Amino acid sequence: MTDEIGKQANGGGMLYPFNGIWPSITDDCFIAPGARIIGDVHIGAGSSIWFNVVIRGDVGKIRIGARTNIQDGSVVHVSSGGIHTTIGDDVLIGHMALIHGTTIDNGGFVGFNAATMDNSHIKKNGMLAAGSLLSPGKVIGEAELWMGRPAKFKRNLDAEMLVNNAKGSRGYAEIAAEYLDEFQNIKK
Ligand SMILES: CC(C)(COP(=O)(O)OP(=O)(O)OC[C@H]1O[C@@H](n2cnc3c(N)ncnc32)[C@H](O)[C@@H]1OP(=O)(O)O)[C@@H](O)C(=O)NCCC(=O)NCCS
Repeated sequence: MTDEIGKQANGGGMLYPFNGIWPSITDDCFIAPGARIIGDVHIGAGSSIWFNVVIRGDVGKIRIGARTNIQDGSVVHVSSGGIHTTIGDDVLIGHMALIHGTTIDNGGFVGFNAATMDNSHIKKNGMLAAGSLLSPGKVIGEAELWMGRPAKFKRNLDAEMLVNNAKGSRGYAEIAAEYLDEFQNIKK
């Protein structure tokens, strides 16, 4: 299905081109209704993009790995001058987050209503707490928790938190597969 400009992705969200480049999304991703994905964006197997998310790869590239979830109302963008956004595998991005010109490595966690600014970096299993602001160029180290506006190092994540965060992203991959199934059955 198409509207006047875009194409519908699996799940009901919409894809749009920019400069002739369309998003590239694997077939088993769930792109929820209301989500809009624009331009030079790649999304890997089993990832989920929830209701009303905007992912805009126009003045730079956005790369998203496998089994990653970007929850409802979040915005992912880039900056001109080669500031791209790269998000790895098994990453959880909470509701209403803003990810701007940032690299997030595998297993990273961005709490709801948090924001990341240009050239910031969240290393493997790093966590930005809900409502926090990661300012430009700041780096959250492996398995560190940062918190506040501006965000500062709070502590290293213990084993229990790491397991919980991993469970969170796995749970999202599972429920996304259920949504995809249900929505595709309704369309048949
Ligand atoms: C960071 C987080 C894990 C809590 O960490 P914590 O160290 O266990 O925090 P605690 O509950 O022990 O609280 C410790 C202190 O930090 C404060 N605090 C807790 N979370 C905070 C946050 N996100 N931002 C600022 N301060 C916070 C508490 O108020 C408390 O302050 P106090 O000592 O003055 O009373 C939690 O706040 C969080 O962000 N969870 C992510 C939830 C989410 O976004 N899920 C995604 C959608 S599924």
